Amino acid sequence: MGTAYETVGVVGLGTMGAGIAEVFARAGLAVIGVEADPDALERGRSHLSRSTEKALRRGKLTEEERAAILGRVTFAGDLGALRDADLVVEAIPEIMEAKRALFAELDRICGPGTVLATNTSSLSVTALAAATTRPGRVVGMHFFNPAPVMRLVEVVRTVVTDPGVAEGVAGLARRIGKTPVRVGDRAGFVVNRLLLGYLNRAVGLLERGVASQHDIETAMRLGAGLPMGPFALLDLIGLDTAYEICEVLFQENRDPSFAPSPLLRELVAAGALGRKTGRGFSAYT
Ligand code: CAA
Repeated sequence: MGTAYETVGVVGLGTMGAGIAEVFARAGLAVIGVEADPDALERGRSHLSRSTEKALRRGKLTEEERAAILGRVTFAGDLGALRDADLVVEAIPEIMEAKRALFAELDRICGPGTVLATNTSSLSVTALAAATTRPGRVVGMHFFNPAPVMRLVEVVRTVVTDPGVAEGVAGLARRIGKTPVRVGDRAGFVVNRLLLGYLNRAVGLLERGVASQHDIETAMRLGAGLPMGPFALLDLIGLDTAYEICEVLFQENRDPSFAPSPLLRELVAAGALGRKTGRGFSAYT
């Protein structure tokens, strides 16, 4: 029998986690947002408040709808709050050891029926499943940035994922207004595997002086019909995240097109991580 998803937990309330919490709450689910760092928890809370306020101003939500969405989200600093969740989506930074430790802890805390999902962009879902005693109930549920806007969810199944669990999560993705695609557990899945090679090569073109940043942006927007040029998109994704994904893809495939460009490495080392730090390939005020 499939799980009726009514209460979902989101662990990690950075850009992706806060966006994912908003998507679930907008679809009528009860959401428990867990963030151990009190400052990050406050940022997550205000992200939700600002985002729904913007929707209110644009006439996309009424006062009542906004209040209902905010009322469906509770916040906690402790994983114990997730004991009775039907599904938990992990959205903490892309550090395998931290994620494995979290999955082992969630496995201890949550009831046996809880499905444990990861929003990882490129790390092995199988390795996370192996950190638990319920590998059949572990999947990838990969959202795209900005989560409230982008319509895709990659549902990642491992060789040991229970097919019914993967289908249930795909059904949940549809219920929250997304289109699911089923993908196997290979680094980068489909979107990042194809996208990051392109973004990394765009940085290479800039470094070699083939064209200016502005002209590469214009070329890809107007010539390839993309909503954003590669540098605006890298700044949105976060240069540290892009760098990590390239590195994992490079390690797994030994394909030089994924070897992170020196300029990307330099910007990350300088702390210019894109929109979230106010500066990446462009400056943001
Ligand atoms: N959060 C919530 N809503 C947002 C938002 C955000 N961060 N950014 C934009 N929106 C909403 C706006 O409110 C607006 O909503 P309405 O139409 O309801 O008013 C709508 O999105 C369009 O926004 P704008 O008019 O301000 O701007 P736009 O038309 O230029 O769209 C964009 C902005 C949606 C970001 C668009 O440029 C786009 O689709 N860019 C490509 C994004 C992309 O490729 N993302 C995937 C990255 S890869 C990834 O995420 C995977 C990974 O693992 C790294």
